[in-house]
Amino acid sequence: MGILEKFERFEGEGAKRYEKAVSRLSPILYHHAIHDLRKLGMKGRYLEAGCGPGILAVKVARELGVEIVAFDLSESMIEIAKKQAERERISIDFRVGDAENDYFGEYDVVYSTFSLHHWSNPERGLKNLWKMVKRGGILYILDARRSRFFGHGLRFEDFKQLFESLTNTEKVEIKKRFPLMVSAIAVKGI
Ligand SMILES: C[S@@+](CC[C@H](N)C(=O)[O-])C[C@H]1O[C@@H](n2cnc3c(N)ncnc32)[C@H](O)[C@@H]1O
Repeated sequence: MGILEKFERFEGEGAKRYEKAVSRLSPILYHHAIHDLRKLGMKGRYLEAGCGPGILAVKVARELGVEIVAFDLSESMIEIAKKQAERERISIDFRVGDAENDYFGEYDVVYSTFSLHHWSNPERGLKNLWKMVKRGGILYILDARRSRFFGHGLRFEDFKQLFESLTNTEKVEIKKRFPLMVSAIAVKGI
């Protein structure tokens, strides 16, 4: 099993292994997300999709002082996330859920990191998340960027196409991020 594959298992021991690795790498992995979300300056209710062990949700709740609902397909990840928030004394509503099919209501900001390329149908998932963004609200995604030298994540052009297929967008901004990442912000029309 390759190194990356080992960290691509999200149930049981795989979830514990992922959490351990990510806790060490979190300053690098979440640097752009924290910076970008802070820059949006949106107050209100946030929804995190594919939150994994909840490390980013805890940081966002603490640093931005916003109310967060966070979900993941993996029950093991949600168990770890709940314990993490308890230890950090942060209140976050963690739920088991599927980005492609579940509806959790409407939010000022819906965001997700390093999860979209794992969805069986990213287009369906993105459109589903878009439904949960309030008018004037924001969808933010950060993910791995596939290239000739890095076989993980989505190619920049495919990612761009996904965002361009959303309807009722007031603004869409897609950027290559260092290293090997891509981010997108879509603002919903009023
Ligand atoms: C690489 S981890 C990323 C976790 C976390 N967002 C982070 O940045 O560390 C991918 C996560 O996406 C979750 N996932 C995969 N498909 C999903 C889906 N359809 N709906 C919700 N979560 C999903 C996995 O269970 C896993 O926890």
